[in-house]
Amino acid sequence: MKKICVFSDGINNKEPQMTKAMIIEPHNFESPDKTISAEKTFGIRWHGEIPAFSSKTEHVPDIDPDYYFEPDVTRALLAGFVHNRRVMVQGYHGTGKSTHIEQIAARLNWPCVRVNLDSHISRSDLIGRDIISLKDGKQITHFQEGILPWALGRPIALVFDEYDAGRPDVMFVIQRILEAQGKLTLLDQNKVLTPHPYFRIFATANTIGLGDSTGIYHGTQPINQGQMDRWNIVVNLGYLQKEIENKIISSRVKNLSAKQKELIPAMIAMANLTREGFMNGDISTVMSPRTVINWAENMVIFDDVHTAFKLTFLNKCDESERHVIAEYYQRCFNKSLVEL
Ligand SMILES: Nc1ncnc2c1ncn2[C@@H]1O[C@H](COP(=O)(O)OP(=O)(O)OP(=O)(O)O)[C@@H](O)[C@H]1O
Ligand SMILES: [Mg+2]
Repeated sequence: MKKICVFSDGINNKEPQMTKAMIIEPHNFESPDKTISAEKTFGIRWHGEIPAFSSKTEHVPDIDPDYYFEPDVTRALLAGFVHNRRVMVQGYHGTGKSTHIEQIAARLNWPCVRVNLDSHISRSDLIGRDIISLKDGKQITHFQEGILPWALGRPIALVFDEYDAGRPDVMFVIQRILEAQGKLTLLDQNKVLTPHPYFRIFATANTIGLGDSTGIYHGTQPINQGQMDRWNIVVNLGYLQKEIENKIISSRVKNLSAKQKELIPAMIAMANLTREGFMNGDISTVMSPRTVINWAENMVIFDDVHTAFKLTFLNKCDESERHVIAEYYQRCFNKSLVEL
């Protein structure tokens, strides 16, 4: 792929404020130049072609060759890439929301940039701000564009992670571009930016935009319904089947001995008990697939599954709930946690 497009320069500062806003169209279009098969690449059925880029550029994520594509989520995300649908993936932490988007982008060679919408992200981070710099020994003020105008003019999949943690004033900035042809107006620049035809938007969130009913996602907030309405597709990603989780862990965690590999089903059984216990309200800390991967990695480091469990999960649990965890552990490993 050749050069990525740049916006032409804005309107002269000396021009009166009343001038009609300049409409900036992206130029130097780069478009997908090949198609790929969904069946071969993702193992799913798909009507029609999937556009992709033939060369990997700077912002294309690396391929994780062992990645497992959950069919429903993959189909929803492909609708985002192929048909320019705004797709939000919702689910518990560590279930693979962000990496599903990244791994699809990796296989399509589609540049992908993730923005964590934490409470420190401000409007000017997204839109841009005036900055003072030195040119030829003189102080000059110029506009430094934020991530939105930068990404909007490029064939980029922009992923808003932790969408339900964003500040309300920031979320309204995003609202406009959620519409398919959503142009972005930069008021202080007197510019209207037209999105690149292969610009895409995705989001991930732990809650469904109605607040945190579980109490484990501090810092999240209800999402304005007008905004939720603009997401064309909302898909849920839950925990994977145990056989699939086993496969992922065995391939993701390097240097597992044969004996350690044999322990993985018990580790997943333990994780599933915490998930059930959590849904039933018995415990408030839950083991995500990410936790199980960490546990397995720590098992390799410490060469002991029990020590690794204590360091990865048990020490994060509330003292008052440890007897429940101990009971689960006893069931899966036939070992008392007091011995740890
Ligand atoms: N389907 C999968 N195949 C392979 N690895 C996976 C899969 N799902 C999750 N993982 C691994 O689990 C870890 C967590 O995934 P990820 O960061 O995408 O979760 P998340 O749902 O975005 O979590 P959070 O809500 O905390 O942001 C990563 O290391 C990822 O590689
Ligand atoms: Mg994530």
